[in-house]
Amino acid sequence: MGRERSVFACTECGAQQPRWLGRCPECGSWSSLVEEAAAAPTRARQLLQAEPAPVAVKPRSLREIDASSSPRLTTGVAELDRVLGGGLVPGSVVLLAGEPGVGKSTLALQLAAGVRASGAVFYVTGEESPEQLRLRANRLPSAPEDMWVLAETRVEALADPWRERRPAVVLVDSIQALATDRVESAPGSVAQVRECAAMLAAAAKASGAALVLIGHVTKEGVLAGPRVLEHLVDAVLTFEGDRSHAFRLLRARKNRYGSTREVGVFSMTEGGLEGVANPSELFLSERRTGAPGSCIAPLVEGTRPMLVEIQALVAPAGYGTARRTSIGFDDGRLALLLAVLDRYGGVDLVSRDVYVNVAGGVRVSEPSCDLALALALASSRLDLAVPAEVAACGEVGLGGEVRRVGRLDLRLREAARLGFRRVLVPAGAGANPQPPAVEVVPIADVAAAVAWLRAGGAVHAPVNNR
Ligand code: TYD
Ligand code: MG
Repeated sequence: MGRERSVFACTECGAQQPRWLGRCPECGSWSSLVEEAAAAPTRARQLLQAEPAPVAVKPRSLREIDASSSPRLTTGVAELDRVLGGGLVPGSVVLLAGEPGVGKSTLALQLAAGVRASGAVFYVTGEESPEQLRLRANRLPSAPEDMWVLAETRVEALADPWRERRPAVVLVDSIQALATDRVESAPGSVAQVRECAAMLAAAAKASGAALVLIGHVTKEGVLAGPRVLEHLVDAVLTFEGDRSHAFRLLRARKNRYGSTREVGVFSMTEGGLEGVANPSELFLSERRTGAPGSCIAPLVEGTRPMLVEIQALVAPAGYGTARRTSIGFDDGRLALLLAVLDRYGGVDLVSRDVYVNVAGGVRVSEPSCDLALALALASSRLDLAVPAEVAACGEVGLGGEVRRVGRLDLRLREAARLGFRRVLVPAGAGANPQPPAVEVVPIADVAAAVAWLRAGGAVHAPVNNR
């Protein structure tokens, strides 16, 4: 062994520096560099030695390459297959990232139970004991049949069983719990996570197994986050959801074998994760109509429309500065909307406490919700309910103008499907190719939206279906 060398690796992006710096020059995060022993560079990242000797590279014509020759392993979890783009690809690596408790292990077990592979499934558990895994499996509707549990935290220990049983799918729960002898730093450090993942990925490519790595992310990104692995894997799936609610969203942040626009919707039940075919129905099931401070917004996640209820409560501020609390909505955007409503909508919100909540534990990031939130806020402040059969979508600009949003057709169709009769839309949205089954009320700016509300939502603006 040569002289011990150490490097400083960023826990956010994984970039390495020869010395410590207060700020990572690659990704710009502060105090994210930690010291690690450099991995021995000479030894190849080989876990399975069975790789054939390198052969001379033979160029192939693009036309001769058959994309259908890489068959997919359907996972039996329809929402997961949708996000993956049709199932797992043999030899590929998928990173499943999410906060602790969101349901990653449950999803992995359900995948193991449903996957249609000709070989065995390995479940490498570095966090839970096999007994805990068994207990969890007992709660699920179907138990995995050909699944082998490896309670192991040393990557090297996986080589023999891997070679012997040639698994078709390998699930690693979690990548942060594993360590290799080749790196000296603690499990979960940047160097360990990267090295272990690289070894496992090479083994997956060599053996043709589909590899799923589970990775924890914390809100602060303190641990060596899955961001370190993004370039190394073929697909990055993020599992999101509020732990106190049942609703979960699975998105592809990167996918070499499919689209990143699909989302999977789940609900966490007593018997594991259940796919939700109609999210709108789930979100609107507990809605109270006729009360002020609520407005429905048609969102589009990926290619799926879903209606969510935006709730607002405006109350006189108590002692000190006014409070602004939002759950499921960006604080900065809320501040912007309050300022715009105050300045251009004539709704006095300055010395008021404001609480915003997106019902069902949904997090909205789409600006298309702005108009619905503005209406919910104005509705609570003015004590005027938005009529029950009304939904609203549109982005609100700093001048108070209501701006156009994408996929209006999808949003209107979904609203119509759920029985909404009128949708407030940006005035500049233009004509719809097909006259939708809902009445469209064009709204030019927040002042118009507030005027519409003050008039009891009964102002029948010209129907926009030229
Ligand atoms: P888990 O899969 O352990 O999350 P992660 O691996 O992402 O940390 O599951 C998280 C929570 O889900 C756990 O607190 C218990 C709950 N749960 C259910 O509600 N129903 C179930 O059937 C199972 C297996 C778990
Ligand atoms: Mg887990």
